[in-house]
Amino acid sequence: MENTAFKEIAELKKEMHELKTEIERLNGICHIGFVLTRERDLDKLLPLVMTEISKAIDADRSTLFLVDWERMVLRSKFAENLEIDRIEVELKMGLVGLSVLSGKLINTANAYEDLRFNPEIDGKTGFRTESLISAPFFNNEGDVMGAVELLGKETGIFTKEDEKNVLKVTSMLTKINWDSEKDTDTAKKMVYELRKLTECKRGALFLLDRVNGELISVMAEGLEQDIHLSLNLGIAGLAAITGQELNIPDAYSDIRFDKRTDEKTGYRTRSLLCVPIKDQSDSVIGVIEVINKKTGVFSDSDMDLLKALSSIVAISVENAILLQEQNRQFRSLLEVLAASIDAKDHLTAGHSQKVTEYSVKIARELGFGESEIDILSVAALLHDYGKLGTDDNILKKSGKLTNEEFDHIKQHVANTRNILDKMYFMRKYRDVPLIASCHHERLDGSGYMNGLKEDKIPFMAKIIAVADVFEALTAQRNYREALSPEDAFEILEQNAGIKLDENIITALRKNWQKAIANESLQDRVMS
Ligand SMILES: [Fe+2]
Repeated sequence: MENTAFKEIAELKKEMHELKTEIERLNGICHIGFVLTRERDLDKLLPLVMTEISKAIDADRSTLFLVDWERMVLRSKFAENLEIDRIEVELKMGLVGLSVLSGKLINTANAYEDLRFNPEIDGKTGFRTESLISAPFFNNEGDVMGAVELLGKETGIFTKEDEKNVLKVTSMLTKINWDSEKDTDTAKKMVYELRKLTECKRGALFLLDRVNGELISVMAEGLEQDIHLSLNLGIAGLAAITGQELNIPDAYSDIRFDKRTDEKTGYRTRSLLCVPIKDQSDSVIGVIEVINKKTGVFSDSDMDLLKALSSIVAISVENAILLQEQNRQFRSLLEVLAASIDAKDHLTAGHSQKVTEYSVKIARELGFGESEIDILSVAALLHDYGKLGTDDNILKKSGKLTNEEFDHIKQHVANTRNILDKMYFMRKYRDVPLIASCHHERLDGSGYMNGLKEDKIPFMAKIIAVADVFEALTAQRNYREALSPEDAFEILEQNAGIKLDENIITALRKNWQKAIANESLQDRVMS
């Protein structure tokens, strides 16, 4: 008797343990879903999160506001149970604004008794606010991005428990990439999560290159370099060609396995799970692979998991490809624009390109991050775009310019500003028009178009200024021959700290000397 009871308990314990593991897995899947969807599926995700939270704490309606610091307003990104699709209120009015500005949660039982309450939204929506709870949320860097507001607790007042739940949601919102431009880390995180869930040693994500018949690793753990796998060889290639998933318990006894990658990397593959990633039209765009299950071989449930995840991965991969294509298109457009300006005069052909090249070199020397370098290079490419409106005869004149003619030339920076202000730039690039149009400002205020001084000039504009002068001096002009780099540096240095930034000039010189050292090294190797 006793024995059976023990057995039953043991059985039950085992089941409970299995259930617990299953729940942990499900949580893991949800987490990945969250990580992956966070960038571009906000419109789907936010309503879900907001409706859930208002259900959980018995609120009548919920709204999520994003703050626009430039215009100092709060704009609704999601509003539950509302007819109007967008609410916009001034940041410095009302309780939500207060929670954003103070960075603190606000909980009030009767809004109309609170002097700080702004009844303007009620006026627009026809809803009468009574109890209200509002909490700010932040991005990863700790900047306030907006606030979550919940109205109308059914039992009258929001409790301490409700406050805790709201804070849970706002801390979750921190993980969202509100700038939605960075995509580089997604693949890394994804593979890491996959590997954790399937309890294996390594994971990799490959994208299919149909033109060259290869799989190229986007992310392969434990490897520094990208790996290229031929489609005709190996398990990953087979999964890509057939569109079928494969579970290989012992790679070295499977003739389809290609040992060469192991030979190259010095890693020994034992068990292997491989699932193709398919796009919306069901064609294969890549492969996910996990290697060496810690406890032996991969199970059917590992396979199910990987298959379920591959569809989420597919969305993320398609998004990443789309983003890449958009970036490429943006770049090529900029280069065409820049080239069209330089083409006005054969002597200035390539000027914008070269100024960009020097600016980027200076920025690297100064330790700029890639994202800042990107912004700088867009501004540098477009800095002279306003020359589109400059008279060709004046631009190409070989003699000395009259005062009127010089005034006309100066006008090109104002034109640059006007044209670029009309162009739509993504959030990240919003300072490009300002930076580009300040490239003739000088530290002592002697520059144009606004005679800005020192700190009033954007630092990136100071970089472009040095690059611009250096390029102009070392290139041939209608009115003089090209100067040697040494002579050009001498002129720059005469102006250091007076008109041009000294550190920037030093950075350019350093970079120049390094390039010369490299060249002479190469010459020695060649000879
Ligand atoms: Fe210029």
